Formats: sequence, C-alpha cells, structure tokens
Amino acid sequence: MSNYVIGVIGGDGIGPEVVAEGLKVLDAAGVGMDTVPYDLGGARYLRDGTVLPDEVLAEWRGMDALYLGAVGTPDVPPGVIERGLLLRMRFELNLYVNRRPFRAPDGSHDFEVIRENTEGTYAGEGGFLRKHTPAEVATQGSVNTRFGVERCVRYAFELARNRPGRHLTLVHKTNVLTFAGDLWQRTFSEVAREYPEVATAYNHVDAACIYFVENPKSYDVIVTDNLFGDILTDLGGAVSGGIGLAASANLNPDRTGPSMFEPVHGSAPDIVGTGRANPTAAILSAAMMVEFLGETEAARRILAACADPTTQTGTTTQIGDAIAKRV
Ligand code: IPM
Ligand code: MN
Repeated sequence: MSNYVIGVIGGDGIGPEVVAEGLKVLDAAGVGMDTVPYDLGGARYLRDGTVLPDEVLAEWRGMDALYLGAVGTPDVPPGVIERGLLLRMRFELNLYVNRRPFRAPDGSHDFEVIRENTEGTYAGEGGFLRKHTPAEVATQGSVNTRFGVERCVRYAFELARNRPGRHLTLVHKTNVLTFAGDLWQRTFSEVAREYPEVATAYNHVDAACIYFVENPKSYDVIVTDNLFGDILTDLGGAVSGGIGLAASANLNPDRTGPSMFEPVHGSAPDIVGTGRANPTAAILSAAMMVEFLGETEAARRILAACADPTTQTGTTTQIGDAIAKRV
C-alpha cells in the first residue's frame, strides 16, 4: 500500500512544537506517511503577507489529510489568520463537522461534541456602517441553512447510533434565538424520527455549561452550532483533564477531499518555547486522523498510550517521547 500524503501546517506559537510530537508518534505507530510541510500562519504573514495561496489550497485538495497545530498570533490583527487560513480551510474544503471527543482521564465520562463547522456566526455575514464615527454600527449575523444544519445533525445521529449510549443532546438557545433555534430544533426533531433507537434531549447552552461542570456523565453525543460548539468545547477540555488533552477532527464526511485534524487549543504564545505545552491533544488529533483514514489499529494503540498516566509527565518532548515509546 502506498503512503498517505499528509499536508502539515505547524502554524504559530506552540503549534509547531506539538505537531512535531504528533508526527513522531505516527511514525512510531508505523503509519506510512509522506508529509508535506507548509509554512503558514502569523509569522509567514508578517514576513511576506501570505495567508493561504489558492495554489496551496488546490494542492491540499489532492491530499489524504491535513494536520494542523494552531494559528493566530498577537502581532497580527485578529481575524487575518483565523479567517484567512483556518476558517477558509473549513469552508472551502467542506469540513462541515467538527468532532471533539472528551474522555476524562479517570474514566468518569466519555462524550463527544459535534460542532457545526461552516455556518452560524462564523459565516462572516455582517459589516460596519459609519465606521469610526460616534454613530457607528456593527452587525454580525448568524447564517443557518437547512442543508447545513441537517447534514451536521445527521452526522451526529449516525455517531450516536453507533455508540453504546445511543443518546444525542441538541444544545442551542431556542428561547432567545427564535429564528436559528427554530430551524435547528425542527431539523433535529425531523431527523430524530429516522433514528428511533437514539434517545434525544435538548439543553439551552447556558444550562449545558452547568451540566458540563457538575454532571458531564449525563452526556453521550452533543450537537450544536458553530459558536456554541467553540465555547462549549473549551469547557469540555477544562472538565476532561485540561485543554492539553482535547483533540478535534474537522471532517468532510463525504470524503470528497481531505479532512483536517488539529488540537482544540490555540497557539498559546505565552508558553511558546518553554516545553510546557502538552502535545497530547495534538497526538490524539493525529490518532483521529489515522482512524479516519482506516488505520484503526494504529489509532487504538496511540489512544491507549495517551491514556497511560506514566506518559503524561514532563516537557512537551518528554511526553511525546513517552507516548511514542509506549505505542
Ligand atoms: C477553535 C479555535 C478557532 C475557532 C479560532 C482559532 C478561529 O478557537 O478551533 O476552536 O474559533 O473555531
Ligand atoms: Mn475554540
């Protein structure tokens, strides 16, 4: 079998540090890969103004997967790299599901958040009126299409059906966001009829924050919109052993192009170069990548190595080495 072709974007801050450990572990797991590095992110932008060239995007379309560390740097105005690189990848490569699993290290809970990844407030709808005047106006709309919501909700039902818990919770704010919430709720209820074996529930997002902290065991699979999913998954990381363990998969479930795998955490410029970044989230994201490519045995071994508490002490490289050795 030929090697997988993986585009690798280390990115900014601790991104390159944690991605190096992920690649080390994939190598130790014996996954045959040809990696193609891409120098993109804030540092590159500051050097020559490049964010994401069309040719690079075209190259990625022919690859098996993309592996990303983190992007965003304080020296670049907010949004330039996030919108121009990360969100552009999610939108243009049709990565409409953001799958974020959470497993507490003590085994007390195991649940997944399915975050819609191409719409909502992230769609970029809105603008300014009378900018920089005392009477300025800024709007930022939330775009919710039946098509976009339904494909995400369907993915969540399929996932829930194949888990032992067979339970799916919709998280939204239907009591206030009565337009978007209504579309989400109706779509959820309609799709639910096709999955009688999956039990369903609904939580408002603010209440879900309480349950995440007080009783995460009550969740099996959660489906939610882009912004709620962004916020809720940082909280998910915080209640499941820390954001240093939170992995994610930006999936094109239709497999019409590569999917992208990255830790939930950001570039953490405050700890870059200190060895304090836990590479486990990036390593678990690499495991999700090889699992999606069909390398289930390698994925299982990486997961087991990460769950071994003896691998979880020391610096970024020491943790990476320990997991690689255990694999
Ligand atoms: C994430 C990140 C991104 C997001 C940022 C960097 C644009 O926070 O993947 O959760 O908001 O989606
Ligand atoms: Mn986030």
